[in-house]
Amino acid sequence: MNQYYNPVKTIQGAGCFNRLPELLQEMELKNRRVLVLAWSETALEHTVFSELQKIQQPFSIQTVVFEASNPTVEQLFAVYQQTKDFAPDAVVAIGGGSILDVGKSLCCLYGKEVGSEDELRELIQNKGYGHPNARWIGVPTTAGTGSEVTCWATIWDPSKDAKRSVESQENYAYAALVDPQLTEGMPLKLAVSSALDAVAHAVESYWANGTNCVSRALALQAIRFIMGHLEDLLSEKPGAHDAMAQGSMLAGLAFSNTKTTACHSISYPLTMHYHIPHGAAVSMLLAPVLEMNASSVEGLPELLKALGVTDAGMLKERISDFLIRSGQSATLQEWGVKQEELSHLAELGMTKGRADNNPVELTAQKIKGILNSIYSK
Ligand SMILES: NC(=O)c1ccc[n+]([C@@H]2O[C@H](COP(=O)([O-])OP(=O)(O)OC[C@H]3O[C@@H](n4cnc5c(N)ncnc54)[C@H](O)[C@@H]3O)[C@@H](O)[C@H]2O)c1
Ligand SMILES: [Zn+2]
Repeated sequence: MNQYYNPVKTIQGAGCFNRLPELLQEMELKNRRVLVLAWSETALEHTVFSELQKIQQPFSIQTVVFEASNPTVEQLFAVYQQTKDFAPDAVVAIGGGSILDVGKSLCCLYGKEVGSEDELRELIQNKGYGHPNARWIGVPTTAGTGSEVTCWATIWDPSKDAKRSVESQENYAYAALVDPQLTEGMPLKLAVSSALDAVAHAVESYWANGTNCVSRALALQAIRFIMGHLEDLLSEKPGAHDAMAQGSMLAGLAFSNTKTTACHSISYPLTMHYHIPHGAAVSMLLAPVLEMNASSVEGLPELLKALGVTDAGMLKERISDFLIRSGQSATLQEWGVKQEELSHLAELGMTKGRADNNPVELTAQKIKGILNSIYSK
């Protein structure tokens, strides 16, 4: 059966970040307290913030800069402590997937007494946060994770060798402002790795066990946008950032209802143990997972056509080429992974909710074969 739900108001296009004051007004915030969480000080210098001050009944605003990538339980707890007394009724998260995930997680924490990092772990584990006490607006500055339109957040827990997920159907963003002008300054490495993350979201949504006809349509269009404009992104052609912003948002809308599959499942320990950026890790896995899944993918010809390839071998070449030309490694060996650790990484790659969403059954042995296939050139 085809079922699809996503309540996020999406506004996309150059300059749309300027719609922020209007959106905050529209939310009719009871206490008019807004937390602005930004990836850098410079993001806070945007002209939209002076416009916010001009509003007749001004908002009370607290700003926090959060620069880290792949937020941990400890980092989330620190921002919660720093902001809980302010008790915002809205959070505006401006940044990459890391910031969006912190912003949406905070909405689930306000109003609950969380006294320590361990209590926070427990709350996340037991999904004990109930109804969110604040609403959020996502403003992505990478393109991207699609986190602005999903209702879950990845919180990393390297000290416990775990990846945690703060998720609640009640915690979709009030709105997403997807403005390509905010991604234009991204370093090429980040632009390419986050674009490839979005391709993985779309491809995995297309073949996920939990897929549906709406997600599949969104996924194909996302793949066409991104794969069709990655070359333009590398040569800095105008319009490339807008195509990536649209593509990553569509991919986000697709996988918001299907979740991801084997590529994401296998990638998590690679990011946690070797700090391989999320997008680079998932995209290296796309071709070998396509090869494994091919015979079980409904609509494979349409998928290959959207990707602009004829088979998994050609996809591997294209993705490696994009990674290398943007200054990133395309093999596990070059990322510093030790061959003797592949078996352990394969065991850790069986992530619940992702591995069991793959159209072909995943085993640690199969994952080891996949990791071996991308170990060296
Ligand atoms: N919740 C979801 O649906 C979802 C989906 C996919 C990924 N994720 C999570 O997103 C995270 C990865 O996000 P990401 O790939 O967007 O990277 P990121 O948010 O970790 O950002 C990478 C670095 O780039 C900086 N940065 C952000 N915007 C920038 C810009 N415009 N110019 C220059 N630097 C900028 C950040 O401060 C950070 O240091 C991971 O933790 C992953 O688990 C979440
Ligand atoms: Zn991802």
